[in-house]
Amino acid sequence: MPDHVLTIALSKGRILEQTMPLLAYAGLVADEDVQRTRKLMVTGRDARGRALRFLIIRAADVCTYVTQGAADLGITGRDLLLEHRPEVFAPLDLEIGRCRLCTAGPEALVAKGLPERGTHIRVATKYDRLAAAYYRKLGLQSEIIHLYGSMELAPLVGMADRIVDIVETGSTLKANGLVEETTLYEISSRLIVNPASAVTRRSMIMPLIEQLREGVAQQRRNREQEA
Ligand code: PRP
Repeated sequence: MPDHVLTIALSKGRILEQTMPLLAYAGLVADEDVQRTRKLMVTGRDARGRALRFLIIRAADVCTYVTQGAADLGITGRDLLLEHRPEVFAPLDLEIGRCRLCTAGPEALVAKGLPERGTHIRVATKYDRLAAAYYRKLGLQSEIIHLYGSMELAPLVGMADRIVDIVETGSTLKANGLVEETTLYEISSRLIVNPASAVTRRSMIMPLIEQLREGVAQQRRNREQEA
């Protein structure tokens, strides 16, 4: 029996800032500041004092660690679940990391509307499957140009007609002269669970999900009071 009871994969980056207070509401604490440490694995405790391990990894890798069983649980965006359809359970919307997956393009191009059905459109994105499905539904032949980040640049240099990307505040679009066209999905972070862990570690995972559910509700009440 390992000395930790559960391993939880957390997404690095701006989402981590919102994740740690939520985990704290659920009684889960890390033994060190996960936002500052260069360590990729940090120990911690749950509300009952049982040992946990947190993995601090790129959002795009969280699903892999959880599907492989290297982590029992993970926190990742709905965008990645929709795009990659990993074989995991996603029992809880954590109501953090809220944003939307949108199509966007240069103002002048968007103002003209979409090209005629059957024509070709170049789309820069890291959401290849979702973007292709969307334009297919509209009857357009999309050429998907896969990028790993900074999609907003592609239309500026004439490499793409549209982007499909996450929009949170809209400031990156604005700074690059792009405008939103269509919202494809509302996005937030989800708790994901490895299906085998859900069975073999059920007695530990179920109470933890309930603690997190209470944490989400508590944070929602706080937000409502502040509003
Ligand atoms: C995301 C996204 C946009 C930006 C949107 O990128 O890809 O570029 O945030 O946020 P905004 O609407 O608040 O401006 P991120 O900074 O996470 O980096 P990435 O491009 O490496 O994914």
